[in-house]
Amino acid sequence: MGLEQFNLQGKTAWITGGTKGLGLQMAGALAGAGAAIAVNSRTAADAQSTARALAERFGVPTYGAAADVTLEREVATFARQASSALGPIDILINNAGINIRKPTVDQTLDDWHAVVETNLTGPFLCTREVLPAMTQRRWGRVIHVASMIGLVGLASRPSYSATKAALINLARTQALEVAASGVTVNALCPGPFATEMNKPLLEDPKKYAEFVSRIPLGRWGELPEIEGAIVFLASAASSFMTGTTLVLDGGWTAQ
Ligand SMILES: NC(=O)c1ccc[n+]([C@@H]2O[C@H](COP(=O)([O-])OP(=O)(O)OC[C@H]3O[C@@H](n4cnc5c(N)ncnc54)[C@H](OP(=O)(O)O)[C@@H]3O)[C@@H](O)[C@H]2O)c1
Repeated sequence: MGLEQFNLQGKTAWITGGTKGLGLQMAGALAGAGAAIAVNSRTAADAQSTARALAERFGVPTYGAAADVTLEREVATFARQASSALGPIDILINNAGINIRKPTVDQTLDDWHAVVETNLTGPFLCTREVLPAMTQRRWGRVIHVASMIGLVGLASRPSYSATKAALINLARTQALEVAASGVTVNALCPGPFATEMNKPLLEDPKKYAEFVSRIPLGRWGELPEIEGAIVFLASAASSFMTGTTLVLDGGWTAQ
């Protein structure tokens, strides 16, 4: 098949939280491979301007609108409108996520609920919305953006680490549910990348250096380093891979 297997022309990809950070980088990578792109976030102006910018830069059809992944009705409306604008969703990247860094004893119930709803309920709702059309068409890719912190613990991230570990097992179970149709479901586990989510670490030289000291490759990830992995997982290239996890963490979890 050669490099053609990475070509996404004719496919439609939905990247939740695709307006910033890793989501925006992955949206650009998939657009660069030829996919039509749908992006949502809670901020309408960001979703619309991201869609416009991706269309201009990559010459692919795009759709952007506000939708909060924690709200069942907004997820359903977005999926319906994106599909009618671009065609059925072939690729879903469950990327929208938040982190609240506080030890268990300091996490309020509201903190806990916010993280669980965004990081776990959101991917459940979005996946439930797209799977029927994927299985019917006998092609589909669902990628849950988990984290290296879904594979190992890290103090002060109780809700985050629990939801990311849950996403890894959600991928396994959903993969089994749809395997007979050829649809695949996998988890992607990034390590530290410099995005808005990590501002508290990036702006604190001590915390930043502490992270670097724990990464065998000796540095944070560069945003473009997510691109090969997401195009692989979203494309025909990964057709024999399902219910498993791809880790890009500079070696953090090898220790
Ligand atoms: N950065 C890292 O080092 C790293 C490492 C491992 C895993 N990850 C995971 O990668 C994903 C992206 O992280 P990031 O660092 O790129 O984060 P980010 O820069 O903070 O971007 C998060 C995106 O999600 C959107 N979002 C948040 N809550 C949402 C909701 N309820 N509904 C819809 N959209 C929502 C945000 O837009 P609005 O705020 O406008 O809604 C934004 O577009 C997350 O799942 C994160 O856990 C990141």
